[in-house]
Amino acid sequence: MSDDVDKVRSRINIVNVVERRVNLKKSGRGYTGLCPFHDDKNPSFSVNPSTGTYRCWSCGARGDVFNFVMEMDRLTFREALEALAAEAGVELSRRPSDPEIALKQRQQAAMNLAQDFFVAQLADSKEAKAVCRERGLDEITLNEWGIGFGPASGDFLANHLKKAGYTLQECQELFLVERDASGGYFDRFRSRLTFPIHDERGKLVAFGGRIIGDGIPKYINSSDTPLFSKRRTLYGMHRARTVMADSGRAVLVEGYMDVIACHRAGIREAVASLGTSLSEEHAALIKRWANEVVIFYDADRAGQTAADRAEQVLSSQGIKVRIALMPEGEDPDTLLRIGGAEAVIGAVKGGLAPTEFRMEQLRSRSDPSKDDFWEEAFAILASATILLEIERYTTELAGLYPGIRDRVAAEKLIKREVMRRRKGTTKVTAQVAAKVPKAPVNASEAQVLQALLVPELRELAFQCLTRELFFTGEGQSVATALIAKWGLKPPSGPADQWVPSLEPNVQDLLVMLEAKAIVPIGRDALEDAIRWLEGKKAERDLHLIGSGSDHDDSKLQLIQEGLEALKNKKS
Ligand code: UTP
Ligand code: MN
Repeated sequence: MSDDVDKVRSRINIVNVVERRVNLKKSGRGYTGLCPFHDDKNPSFSVNPSTGTYRCWSCGARGDVFNFVMEMDRLTFREALEALAAEAGVELSRRPSDPEIALKQRQQAAMNLAQDFFVAQLADSKEAKAVCRERGLDEITLNEWGIGFGPASGDFLANHLKKAGYTLQECQELFLVERDASGGYFDRFRSRLTFPIHDERGKLVAFGGRIIGDGIPKYINSSDTPLFSKRRTLYGMHRARTVMADSGRAVLVEGYMDVIACHRAGIREAVASLGTSLSEEHAALIKRWANEVVIFYDADRAGQTAADRAEQVLSSQGIKVRIALMPEGEDPDTLLRIGGAEAVIGAVKGGLAPTEFRMEQLRSRSDPSKDDFWEEAFAILASATILLEIERYTTELAGLYPGIRDRVAAEKLIKREVMRRRKGTTKVTAQVAAKVPKAPVNASEAQVLQALLVPELRELAFQCLTRELFFTGEGQSVATALIAKWGLKPPSGPADQWVPSLEPNVQDLLVMLEAKAIVPIGRDALEDAIRWLEGKKAERDLHLIGSGSDHDDSKLQLIQEGLEALKNKKS
């Protein structure tokens, strides 16, 4: 398997893999971008093709191309290896033996079986087909979204799964069947249209179900299962993500039918969170593909509150937000039916920036002659993220302030009230520390270490380590670690083949140095650095001799410590 890993590693460029998820810019010898593993405001994420590693200087995430794919797609190592091997065209020598993967595959197969069952049931049910027709769900749409039907009878699916060899207990874990009081099992989705839910890569992970006709609850949403996490899954994401990446925009709607209606209207960046409000994980998922989100929720009170909340979650992750509300009483589904695609597209286009949106809402339900209008207006402006918005609305509202004729005085009052509320409420986003920290080694040591990454210079650089030319604490510990690993001969071949297998601290140092370098180090620079280190060593030796020729180990140690203390003082 380690052969496979090496083979895959040598054929995959980490930059290409990361680039699909992170917008990377060339910087020095590597690439930088916003870290996908934390809420990054300044680019503190760097990817280094020469070491084959990535590193976030802010949150500490780091690893090689396998770690990246594992973290990003929540895969086990084996799954990441398989995905990358497929990409690299490498045939893996052994089949998975990991029981965890075998279990996942089994669960996946049960889900797929349920999906086929539901689709077959829809084809068999006059009633369900009629409902779909009524709702304008044509054959193409039904196929595209894999819509199916769970029949009314209590344990149709349960029996079907059992016959195929699955235990009902494992099906219960997948939210396909539920246990009743008498210990039997019954189907979760009865008399319901079923909506398969996929993860962003298109794997079936759960189902949602809309009741046929009236009934409570209208929708059943799967709870979390071994395959499904509702906080991390957005309905429609697997179909929407590439479109999102192209337009840089996502459209966030409330439910299954809304997503489908938007896609049908040509808004194919539409996704929905499922029976849960938008989570930070959802926002992070969207952020990988888009930098702007149009929230397109129902116009009712609940929809507005949800839109407000979603706006905060998205904004706090640095995503630009616009809010578009459906016309009163409509949702994308009904809007599509009465107004056609134009109406849906128009509504999304009409989205407003959050402050603008809130002011519009306020104006429509209250007016400046009322006290509560001003209380709310102050609060809205206090939460504005763009200072210019405060200026703009202050000017606009000044003429409306009751009892004050003098515009300038009114403006002053409004601003004072806004600023007073702003204090304490606004989050000051902490500045991310310097992109690349200062290297804890001496500059010449740094050059030698960098030269280790260059195959032609590696032998020469490595001699500096075996000749004990390094003198800083960090430099010596890295030298010791590398000698322990390599003996007297360093590996040949590109650095990305061996850096990932080094100890984390050694890896970090190499990657950090590489990230700081503007140009690759050449032989001349390396030779200069070696000369400098040799001079330094001669000085040290002189000290030792001067302090008596009968020097013992304890003296040597003292000197070493003194040098270290000196170095610590300097840095
Ligand atoms: P809506 O009640 O607006 O449903 O809820 P809808 O999408 O317009 O559906 P139709 O047109 O009446 O069939 C919006 C979303 O809220 C969630 C679902 O995700 C739904 O799509 N919801 C709604 C639930 O999770 N449970 C419910 O009981 C109702
Ligand atoms: Mn609705």
